[in-house]
Amino acid sequence: MGAGKSTLGAALAEQLGRPFVDVDGEIEREEPIARIFETGGEVAFRLRESKHALDALGSPTPAVIALGGGAVGTDQIRKALRARALTMLVEIDAEEAWRRVAGQRPLAQDEAAFRTLYDQRQPLYDNAADARTADLDGAVLAAGGVHVEPGALERLGELVPAEGQVEIVSDARVAGIYGMDVQLALGARARAVHELAPGEQAKTVESLEALWHALRLERSGTLVALGGGCTTDVAGFAAATYFRGIDWVAVPTTLVGQVDAAIGGKTAIDLPDGKNLVGSFHWPVRTVIDAVTLETLPEEELANGRAEVVKTGLLAGEPIWELPPGEQVRRAAAFKTALCLRDPHDHGERAQLNLGHTFAHALEAAADYALPHGRAVALGLLAALRLSGLETKVVEETLRPEPVRVDRDAAWAALARDKKVVDGTPRLVLLEAPGAPRVGVEVPSADVRAALDALIAN
Ligand SMILES: NC(=O)c1ccc[n+]([C@@H]2O[C@H](COP(=O)([O-])OP(=O)(O)OC[C@H]3O[C@@H](n4cnc5c(N)ncnc54)[C@H](O)[C@@H]3O)[C@@H](O)[C@H]2O)c1
Ligand SMILES: [Zn+2]
Repeated sequence: MGAGKSTLGAALAEQLGRPFVDVDGEIEREEPIARIFETGGEVAFRLRESKHALDALGSPTPAVIALGGGAVGTDQIRKALRARALTMLVEIDAEEAWRRVAGQRPLAQDEAAFRTLYDQRQPLYDNAADARTADLDGAVLAAGGVHVEPGALERLGELVPAEGQVEIVSDARVAGIYGMDVQLALGARARAVHELAPGEQAKTVESLEALWHALRLERSGTLVALGGGCTTDVAGFAAATYFRGIDWVAVPTTLVGQVDAAIGGKTAIDLPDGKNLVGSFHWPVRTVIDAVTLETLPEEELANGRAEVVKTGLLAGEPIWELPPGEQVRRAAAFKTALCLRDPHDHGERAQLNLGHTFAHALEAAADYALPHGRAVALGLLAALRLSGLETKVVEETLRPEPVRVDRDAAWAALARDKKVVDGTPRLVLLEAPGAPRVGVEVPSADVRAALDALIAN
């Protein structure tokens, strides 16, 4: 009571693109809650509440539902929650709750009675809650199965939801740093660590095939992917295909992984013809983000992630790059999680994540992939901002993009091959303003070519 479930629920529903049902609001529309209490007492209220809550929980349309604070006291509602819902506890302490609702609700008339009720309900909440949150980003992250907590690696045993056996996939470098910790945290459930070659070499058919052969999991098993985007891409695709799909948990250890690659359920390997050409959508049952792992990440890898943080900030219209590092990760991860939950199969607005990337991919291809992705994205963002007619200072100051020495014609040819070029006209993601992306904007070829040329050093 008083935790702000109605406000948070409505905001969450909007973030997830789902309808919102406020059970107390539905009851109130029938008859004022205060009057129900006066005439029929709490019993009458609980009956009405059950009806509305069970209707909402039984509906085939997925929705965000706000339940009154006493609803979990009803056995049938608890059962329906367990069967049908991801239940989130919105945390608030008794002090603050009383301050917000004192005298305004039938069960908040007397402070001592209110506190007793609060204490009585806690165990019920603890039991019903699949996740806890105090804010909107926390709710979005929980909805996407994303757990952000410094030190989470040590608690991986509790955070990997599986009952069955677990095998770990990691690259040789990350396995050397965190493999033992993760095995210890998973305890007896952890059976094997499969090592991939570090970096993009892992994303090949051969390396995936070797992984398929090495896996010994049963269908109820869970694959844990520990590493950067290359590891989570291959391991996620292995999980998507092994026995036609088993559960997997992503444990991203790079900034790119934590704000981008391990979120949203895209998995892929490369073909000689191009990157990420074969893959699948297979959402991890959980993504565990531990900022502590970034302490061992080399500076050039951090820089790759920073470019994605700036991209996310431009899309969100918030200077996310100015937040303290841990909060940057949480905010950027929440932004991508919400976007991907609204558009899980990339049929619509998710395309905005390509901001700056058409240029970046062209430069990377022209450089034979010797150009770090973050450096390419920094340049791509610069071009996207220029074509949007917007200030480029943010990108210049935070990412310090430097023009690259690549062949201009090769870069242009690569851009023209991009799947976003239709009938010779590039379709770009641009910004009307920070926070207001537009996807599929047709830009005259000559303007795009000039913008690309400006990123290349003579
Ligand atoms: N699936 C998606 O939605 C998505 C999104 C963005 C990027 N990606 C993919 O992600 C890949 C890039 O991922 P990346 O940038 O994380 O690279 P990466 O996985 O190659 O990791 C970079 C390097 O850092 C090392 N490393 C990782 N974590 C470390 C740590 N904590 N300490 C020390 N070293 C560590 C790795 O061994 C590797 O050498 C690309 O293949 C890209 O296509 C996928
Ligand atoms: Zn990128």
